[in-house]
Amino acid sequence: MGMNRVLIENAAQIATPIGTCAKRGKQMNGLRLIETGSIYIEDGVIQQIGPSASVQQYLHESENQSEIYVIDASGQTLIPGLIDSHTHLMFAGERLDEFCQRLSGATYMAIMAAGGGIQNTVRATRLADPGLLLNESKRRLSEMLRFGVTTAEIKSGYGLDERTELEELTLIQQLNQDLDMDVVATFLGAHAIPLEFSGDGDGYINWIINTMLPKIAATHLAEYVDVFCDQGVFTLKQAERLLSAAIDYGFKIKIHADEIANLGGATLAAKLNATSADHLLRITSAEIRDLANRSRTIATLLPCTAFCLQEEFAPARQMIDSGCAVSLASDYNPGSAYTCSVPLMIALASVTMKMTPAEILTALTINAAAAIDRADSIGSLEVGKLADIVFLNVPDYRYMVYHTGMNDVVRVMKRGKVVD
Ligand code: NIG
Ligand code: FE
Repeated sequence: MGMNRVLIENAAQIATPIGTCAKRGKQMNGLRLIETGSIYIEDGVIQQIGPSASVQQYLHESENQSEIYVIDASGQTLIPGLIDSHTHLMFAGERLDEFCQRLSGATYMAIMAAGGGIQNTVRATRLADPGLLLNESKRRLSEMLRFGVTTAEIKSGYGLDERTELEELTLIQQLNQDLDMDVVATFLGAHAIPLEFSGDGDGYINWIINTMLPKIAATHLAEYVDVFCDQGVFTLKQAERLLSAAIDYGFKIKIHADEIANLGGATLAAKLNATSADHLLRITSAEIRDLANRSRTIATLLPCTAFCLQEEFAPARQMIDSGCAVSLASDYNPGSAYTCSVPLMIALASVTMKMTPAEILTALTINAAAAIDRADSIGSLEVGKLADIVFLNVPDYRYMVYHTGMNDVVRVMKRGKVVD
């Protein structure tokens, strides 16, 4: 069997973060920029990256005579494959009416308290055929791929019963096998209190801890456990109980914190060393310091959700200036953010949240990789990392913010293979 060799040459620019995770202010801007650059790949792994002349030199000196597949990237910019570290994209049914109700002044939590919201999607998902769930999820992932996303996290959480939650997690594993994208599974049984446990959040958390965690741990169906810690959903105490139990079972943890109200979820994340704390719209200055100084927890911001819920945006500037490692994700779901648009996310992160182009690229790549504990294999273009590469039809990565709302992705490579 011959080795699979690929050379991408003469890119106008290669833009990539360096290192394993950018934390503490200035390092958020630690990009490596290569003008007229090339990348040489063997069997899906980057072997050489640098100015085109030096990569050429490396290949001349190599003894390897087998054929090389050459891709001309003139006029284009190469960036690492993007990572969407927070999605709820496996669901049935949509919630168009709720979006319109919110436009007329209803709040997300009022709709949820009246029996709509997540419960609406749970009803539809429990009834859905698994084949449909799988195909719709594939379609959504292929939408993401067109924006340059090569790795995605997917949460369960629209079953809230044993059969449907296990089914969702099993289907997520199936996606990982069927598609070129890499998919990471998170168990979000604690997404809402199901009707079967109405008014008994403690009882539901007990059931998750005693029945679900051991099953999911034994079958390795999920890598992460997450919880929606917010007003009217799960309390800080319930979140701590669940996440501590999850850690004991060997799971890594994430938390939905401060999306609607501040319950102290960010501090809990820092205390338990969660891999990520997500949303953080209502985070306080003291909690920002906790995340920055007392943890390795990534602060994952979801601007499309703040936008669609008409909420105030997370204080990205203050977080980065305080030394937090910030990542960005879509939150793709039928309720609070029915979009996986990377250009929209970037527009909000730049113009509204005042993140710099370098910070945004870092947040979508190396820090997003750290948010799913993959920063040693993806999230930057470096020798030894996977050749997950996005080709942009622009000469400078800063067009990602400048070319507002546009999708300039012309080619996507996953593990050295062109997939879109
Ligand atoms: O992150 N907050 C909880 N989960 C999602 C919303 C899910 C839904 O509304 O269906 C979120 O916003
Ligand atoms: Fe979410």
